[in-house]
Amino acid sequence: MAKKKKSAKTSQRKNKNGESLRILISRTKLQKRVTEIAREIRKDFPDEPLHLVGVLKGAVFFLTDLGKQIPGEVSFDFIAVSSYGGDTHSSGQVRLTRDLDSSIEGKTVIVVEDILDTGMTLQYLLRVFEQRKPKRIRIAVLLDKPERRIAAVHADYVGFTIPNEFVVGYGLDYAERYRNMPDVGVLSLGTIAKTS
Ligand code: IMP
Ligand code: MG
Repeated sequence: MAKKKKSAKTSQRKNKNGESLRILISRTKLQKRVTEIAREIRKDFPDEPLHLVGVLKGAVFFLTDLGKQIPGEVSFDFIAVSSYGGDTHSSGQVRLTRDLDSSIEGKTVIVVEDILDTGMTLQYLLRVFEQRKPKRIRIAVLLDKPERRIAAVHADYVGFTIPNEFVVGYGLDYAERYRNMPDVGVLSLGTIAKTS
């Protein structure tokens, strides 16, 4: 008898919270693209120390993978903001919950963010950073959901452009869960399934 193929339904079966997951971007694709972005960044700034500023907590895996792939002088810092509660809807309000450890004055800053959605978070952060007189600021996002944009924010480096679906994994969470998933998946909730 032919071997039974693993049904696509397997990954979409509901868990105990009534949620189901569908893989959107595999770990292999993620790693490949992150390596390409790292090369692009170094190519754009061949001789400069780069200061990566990760937005906690969603960008942690992206930043660490990216940082390892950029040759030459690279330093890190982290900032944290909050805009989402335990929901898939943004509150639209951004609040700084943890500031940087060191000054960015005169530095080439690469803001590293997990996802560009409405753009409110990055618009807020850019305002904060620009006042601190960096040499220049560039934005790297792993994912871009252009359909949801409210604030006119442009990312210089984009990993993947995705449709308007709520995604988790590779740092992205739903109520602090799923961040440790190595792939990016679309999360369907029992009750609320959309982000708009
Ligand atoms: P924005 O301010 O609407 O651009 O949202 C950016 C932040 O919202 C990201 O840093 C994420 O933390 C969160 N976010 C937006 N979309 C998603 C998603 O699909 N899954 C998980 N978090 C998301
Ligand atoms: Mg985030």
